[in-house]
Amino acid sequence: MNLIVATKIEEVRTQVRTWKQQGLTVGLVPTMGYLHEGHASLVDKAVSLCDKVVVSDFVNPTQFGPTEDLDAYPRDFDRDCALLEEHGASLVFHPSVEEMYPQGAATFVEIQSDMPKALCGKTRPTHFKGVCTVVSKLFNIVTPDKAFFGQKDAQQLAILRRMVRDLSYGIEIVGCPIVREADGLAKSSRNTYLSPEERQAALCLSKAVFLGQDMAEKGERDADKIVSAMTETIQAEPLARIDYVTAVDGVTMETIHRIEGPVLVAMAVYIGKTRLIDNFIVEG
Ligand code: PAJ
Repeated sequence: MNLIVATKIEEVRTQVRTWKQQGLTVGLVPTMGYLHEGHASLVDKAVSLCDKVVVSDFVNPTQFGPTEDLDAYPRDFDRDCALLEEHGASLVFHPSVEEMYPQGAATFVEIQSDMPKALCGKTRPTHFKGVCTVVSKLFNIVTPDKAFFGQKDAQQLAILRRMVRDLSYGIEIVGCPIVREADGLAKSSRNTYLSPEERQAALCLSKAVFLGQDMAEKGERDADKIVSAMTETIQAEPLARIDYVTAVDGVTMETIHRIEGPVLVAMAVYIGKTRLIDNFIVEG
């Protein structure tokens, strides 16, 4: 196996130092494991742009709320390694919780604006503080030239771009398109929670995305009309419960009503107990 498996921060630092001394560029793909083709697309992109690719595989406890699915979150590290090897990653970083958060760790990274309070932040108030903190730590450990994130988590991507700018990280953030199942459902590690009936019902998210996208492509600029049509599509599915469907400024995440600049149309919907997200961007 060519893939290096590292569980300690020091191992990663030593390896990356060696690569940098050789003049090689380093890409980072942060993940929580249970990898699927969405993650693989990020690795492929990273391999195409960087000499060496580090993938972190760590279910980060600080981004889960007290009633969320931290313990139930699916894990299969051996399968993850096989996928990473196949896609040409150089190193997988798979630390323990104690390695990442030593006893008494009390320093966090938080964007103090409305950005992390919008969309997913309404029901997950501490989520993005956990994401920013762990991604900051990964940036400090790996010191990559570029880091790769999916458009699937659009708010996360916007927040991390902001963090990199505000904290002068000097790391290029590369956003990658959403990878979907053949029937449209956005790939997600959480899709494994769905029963066969719920899996079918979950198609209402991508159906709503495709409808909204189509309206925007045909020239609709009234964001409220797009959001209403999408909401109706989701409400027609009895197993679906909407958390939010909304149109926001693609950079600030502030609610908008007319499409002028780049706009993010995003949703979070419960299918049974599973919360799924999906979105699309209108360039304006
Ligand atoms: P995770 O949900 O494992 O996702 C890791 C990366 O894969 C994220 O950048 C996410 O946007 C991307 N991704 C997931 N599904 C995708 C899909 N269907 N198409 C394209 N990209 C997809 O996001 C996280 O982990 C964590 O919050 C993390 C950033 C690792 C911090 O803990």
